[in-house]
Amino acid sequence: MIVTIDGPAGAGKSSVSRRLADEIGFEFLDTGAMYRAIALKGLRAEVDWANVDLLVEYAKSATIDLSGRAVILDGEDVSHAIRSQQVTEVTRYAAGNIGVREELVRLQREIAAGKDIVTEGRDQGTLVFPQAECKIFLTASPEERARRRVGDLAARGESADFQVILQRQAKRDEEDMQREVGPLLKADDAVELMTDGMTEVEVLQKLVGIVQRYQHA
Ligand code: DC
Repeated sequence: MIVTIDGPAGAGKSSVSRRLADEIGFEFLDTGAMYRAIALKGLRAEVDWANVDLLVEYAKSATIDLSGRAVILDGEDVSHAIRSQQVTEVTRYAAGNIGVREELVRLQREIAAGKDIVTEGRDQGTLVFPQAECKIFLTASPEERARRRVGDLAARGESADFQVILQRQAKRDEEDMQREVGPLLKADDAVELMTDGMTEVEVLQKLVGIVQRYQHA
């Protein structure tokens, strides 16, 4: 069974999706981490971001291992590095690249094949797994998402200004929704959950309830 969780940046998807997977005994796939890993590879190589073919080469040649708790890129644990503000800013070059997306979507389908898995991203319920049994669209207001992002960055020791984060987030939302391939979109058959004012545990309980409805259907 495949459970897809899509939604905008900062809706708290990653951590609650992983907890959901643990709770129901499913595997978990963080697809944003894959786009971030390719961006990190480009950043380290000081790539010219206009060189779209080189980014596709990176996506084809990189080994991305997401089977454990850590994100392993070419044998190195990059779990922390891929979450920096700098990587967050340049990930749009990987996410907006058609060839990179083709390669990563292929990998996502390969990883999920035959598994019980919770897969999280932007295009999981629409494009990557249209046949998924249970689709969830997780969202929150821009202000709530920006507040959470400021909190996450503070926890990492990175200081952040709320207004700046809010503006950057609006830009990323726009890019996410306007992308020609794999844009952020709620699937017609997805259940939408708006998480403003909810704690992570409350969101988790809701998600478990939604999945159980599908499991018993
Ligand atoms: O969810 P996140 O913030 O880790 O995602 C990082 C970036 O990757 C973000 O710009 C959106 C993009 N992304 C995507 O285009 N498709 C996905 N399936 C997942 C993430």
